[in-house]
Amino acid sequence: MNILFVGDVFGSAGRHIVREHLPHVLETNAVDLLVINGENSAGGFGITPAIAEELFDMGAHVITTGNHVWDKREIFEYMTVPANSDVRGRRVIRPANFASGTPGYGLFQGELPSGQKYAVINLQGRVFMSSSDDPFRKTDELLTQIAAESGAKVILVDFHAETTSEKAALGWYLDGRVTAVLGTHTHIPTADERILPGGTAFQTDVGMSGPYDSVIGVEVEQVLQRFLTGMPGKFEAAKGNPKMCAALIQCDGATGRAHAIQRIMLGE
Ligand SMILES: [Fe+2]
Ligand SMILES: [Fe+2]
Repeated sequence: MNILFVGDVFGSAGRHIVREHLPHVLETNAVDLLVINGENSAGGFGITPAIAEELFDMGAHVITTGNHVWDKREIFEYMTVPANSDVRGRRVIRPANFASGTPGYGLFQGELPSGQKYAVINLQGRVFMSSSDDPFRKTDELLTQIAAESGAKVILVDFHAETTSEKAALGWYLDGRVTAVLGTHTHIPTADERILPGGTAFQTDVGMSGPYDSVIGVEVEQVLQRFLTGMPGKFEAAKGNPKMCAALIQCDGATGRAHAIQRIMLGE
């Protein structure tokens, strides 16, 4: 079974580069399951229902997010659906370790047309991020829930976190218990993709799908002014040098163990 995970889609440049490359990548790699992080897909800040629909129309089975998930208010209602609902809004997930009562869900369990079951978990780190519950123990709870509900063995974790150490730690913590732990949020792809000894695919950060002539997606001049003066100012999505960053994972659908992970970066 082949899984493609696309890193943080940033603004219109990110959406365009993904739209350009995705069909070819899906076809040549016979991708069964597509997960896209969409937290920056609306102008770099948040996601709207219309953009979520756009990503679903490109073939996404699940859209993950992160700290920017609430930047666009329209998404609150779209994600506020019953847990067993089959509307598309149920497939946009936010970090599971957000405060309880937050709109939406941090786990999606699904089944492909082939009958293959899968689960996607979204988590947020606690180091240099706004406060949230413990992502380690939250995952323990969710794995128990998955075992009791769908029994899915193919389990993908999007860990939206700032520090390399916290991401590496969660990778080792979940080794042998999930198919993949993939980092997002820093928007810089790391060259450490590997299969851990227990059969879990890991990459510290998959990288942004967006404009790389930028400071992690934002116009260079605007970020420079912030660093040089400390004064508030608007941040807008850059456009130049777009790349699509993704991780391609091959796994055994019956056991959920990963065999291979490949780092992908495609540009114009
Ligand atoms: Fe992001
Ligand atoms: Fe983020």
